Amino acid sequence: MIFALSTAHKIGLAGTGFIFIVYSITSAFLIPAYRPNFPGKHVFAYCAVSVLMFLWMMGAVVVFGREQAKAEAVIEKVPTTTTTTTGSSTPSTGDATAGKAVFTANGCGACHTFTPAGSNGTIGPNLDNLADYAAKAGEPIDSFTRAAITTPPASYVPPGYADVMPKTFGTTIKPKDLDDLVAFLTQPQ
Ligand code: HEC
Repeated sequence: MIFALSTAHKIGLAGTGFIFIVYSITSAFLIPAYRPNFPGKHVFAYCAVSVLMFLWMMGAVVVFGREQAKAEAVIEKVPTTTTTTTGSSTPSTGDATAGKAVFTANGCGACHTFTPAGSNGTIGPNLDNLADYAAKAGEPIDSFTRAAITTPPASYVPPGYADVMPKTFGTTIKPKDLDDLVAFLTQPQ
């Protein structure tokens, strides 16, 4: 669409120039060749037409030239918008693979069942259903999981579990490891 526009403007500009040149050659060389005293008594009309042609040509340069500059400005803006969209679509910075090692090292599997970790503890809730718990709490799964680990108990705990989740992970797990652990727990299964 933008390219079609700028091409149309180029054609408009070239077309106007072409008509102007044809008019100049015709009136200055061709017509006088047949009618030596052209424009004769119509000299005022001839001058008026020439001035109008000149104004038309200048107008075309200004209008088509400006429209094309506008179209180019739009083209320059497009990549910026695309970059912003791509950047904001990355939800988590954590590395799920590294998170599995954090899960194992902190003994989470002793209390939690979580299929991707191959654990089957039953003291805490089954973490395969984490998305359900987050939905019941009405929170995004990322922030729900992070808070459940650093400041237990979680804002939704399924019935039947004692409040024995260690309260120390918020200080003992390093921020980078926590990002990886959250990515591991919240990855699509
Ligand atoms: C001593 C057993 C125990 C250990 C070890 C443990 N948890 Fe828990 N966890 C629980 C219990 C019990 C709950 C539910 C009640 C609560 O929050 O205290 C829970 C809750 C959670 C929840 C919130 C689920 C919900 O909706 O209730 C998450 C997420 C979680 N644990 C992740 C972890 C991770 C990750 C680790 C390892 C860093 C870990 N837990 C280690 C027992 C444990």
